[in-house]
Formats: sequence, C-alpha cells, structure tokens
Amino acid sequence: MNHNLIAHSATVPLTTSIGPFCVIGENVVLGENVILGVGCVLSDEARVGDGVELGNYVSIGRGAVIGQRTRIGDHTTIYPQAILGEDGFIGSNSSIGRLPKASATSTVKAQADMPSLQMGNGFTIGCSAVLYAGTNYADKAFVGDGAVVRERCSIGQNVVIGSGVVVENDTKIGEFTKIQTGSYITAYMEIEERVFIAPMVTTTNDNYMGRTEKRFKEIKGPTIQRGARVGGGSILLPGVKVAPETFVAAGALVSKDTTEKRVIKGFPAKDLRAVPEDELL
Ligand SMILES: CC(C)(COP(=O)(O)OP(=O)(O)OC[C@H]1O[C@@H](n2cnc3c(N)ncnc32)[C@H](O)[C@@H]1OP(=O)(O)O)[C@@H](O)C(=O)NCCC(=O)NCCS
Repeated sequence: MNHNLIAHSATVPLTTSIGPFCVIGENVVLGENVILGVGCVLSDEARVGDGVELGNYVSIGRGAVIGQRTRIGDHTTIYPQAILGEDGFIGSNSSIGRLPKASATSTVKAQADMPSLQMGNGFTIGCSAVLYAGTNYADKAFVGDGAVVRERCSIGQNVVIGSGVVVENDTKIGEFTKIQTGSYITAYMEIEERVFIAPMVTTTNDNYMGRTEKRFKEIKGPTIQRGARVGGGSILLPGVKVAPETFVAAGALVSKDTTEKRVIKGFPAKDLRAVPEDELL
C-alpha cells in the first residue's frame, strides 16, 4: 500500500524513502537519501537537498528550498518561496515564511512584493513558532517554541529568540544577541550585537497609543546598543536609547536615554552605580 501521487516531471532518486499518501508536484527536485513521512505535500518547483528528513504531514510550498540535512517536524508548513539553509532543525507545528495578514482596522498596508523568508545554515526553530516572510536570518539562528517573528526583520548570526518572544516588523537584531522568554520587541526597533534581554521585557513605540495623526510621524521603537543588558520585566518607553553596556535593573522603567556602562534601577530608572569592570565585554 502506498498511494503516492508523484508528478512525472519530479526528480525522485531511488534513495528516497517515501511514506504513504505523499504528493510530489511538478518539477520538484529531491536530493539523495531524502526521507518523507506520511502525507507530506511538496508543491511544484520545491527543491529538497540531500539527507533532508520530513516528519508526517509536512507541507513544502511552491518553489521553497530546503538545504541539505535539514530536519522538519510533523505538521510544519514551509510557505512558498521560503529558502532554508543546511543542517537546520524545525520542530512540529511551525509555520515558516507566512505572509502578513492585517486586521480590518490595521494601519499596516499589505506589501505586494514581499520577499521570501531566508534562513542561513545551522538554525534551530522550536515547535509552534510562526516566522513571517520578508525576514532574513543569518547562520545559527535559534528561535524557541511559540515565538513569533514578523516581516522585514534582520536577524544576525547566533541570535537567540527565546520561547514565546514576539519580534514585531522592521526590527534589526545584531549578532549574538539573546532575547529571553516572553519578551515583547516592538516594531522599528534596533537592537545591536551582544545585547541581553531578560524574560518578560516590554518595549513600546507609540506615546499616543493609537490616537491622533501625529503619532505616525513620531512612532519610534527604542534602540539598544552593543552589549547592553535589560533586566527581567523592565519597560522601555518609545524612542529611548539604551547606551552600550548599560545594565537596566530588573523591573525598571526606562524613560530617558541611558549612560554607557552604568547600572540604572527603579520606576522611573535612576543611576545606581557603575557596571563592574569584570562584567564588561
Ligand atoms: C541591579 C541588581 C543587580 C542589584 O544591584 P546591587 O548593586 O546588588 O544592588 P543592591 O542589592 O545593593 O541594592 C541597592 C539598593 O537598590 C535597591 N534595588 C536593588 N535592585 C533593585 C531593583 N531591581 N529595582 C529597584 N531597586 C532595587 C535595593 O533595595 C537597595 O536599596 P536600599 O539602598 O534602599 O536598601 C539587581 O536588582 C538586578 O536587577 N539584577 C538583574 C536580574 C535579572 O533581571 N536577571 C536577568 C536574567 S534572569
């Protein structure tokens, strides 16, 4: 019993292991030693590299590319044209490269020419993560379970985006930066390299909270500069600049630009002391 539907134009080497009820579309190209679980759908023009392993019910969109030896868990969807590098891992139930869909009252306009999602090599993505189209990930990105990363972001090498983190659109994150569980990274933010963001940090970008026309001109996310650390549960107000190696104490409200290499604490945050020399990068 097999019941697979395989287009004549597809390239399916003899080394392929195909579970029952798979559909392989026109001009799909599979490398050597690919393993497909039960019920996988590979849409037209998809390309799947040597040694790729797909779990059960994995869907690969039209024209998507899966790099060699990447493993994808059950029920995950790779959207059309997404490009994933080599030696990656994606858990089950994730949606990779989906297009944005604004609410009826949203001010965000649909972008007709949204580029595809591009992911470098050696990535790890957890279960139930939702990654939008139009974002680029450098090598060795880590995205935890249930995280969301929106469109037009740029994610540097070795960045860690923890479980349940939301990264909104048009945000830039520098290499080796870590964002821990449950933090909210607002739209239009710039986070430089080797920044540490503790759990449940909230960042904001709109002092008018959705009212007035002037908010459109003034909307601005915080900037967090190289090596800064932001403690658990802190709140960063719109447009503040957190200087290099600033240490924001847990639970602080950052309402003003900060000074390099100083610890600030409180609500609103005030200067406490210098960051010890042995904690600097
Ligand atoms: C800043 C921090 C390291 C404490 O620094 P510290 O120099 O040891 O400060 P101290 O404990 O000596 O406290 C100095 C004063 O500030 C107060 N204080 C300490 N931490 C505070 C904070 N986060 N917010 C408000 N006040 C704080 C203390 O109560 C103390 O007040 P007092 O002089 O009236 O008694 C700590 O508060 C902190 O934020 N740690 C980061 C934890 C975190 O988010 N980790 C992330 C990974 S889980």
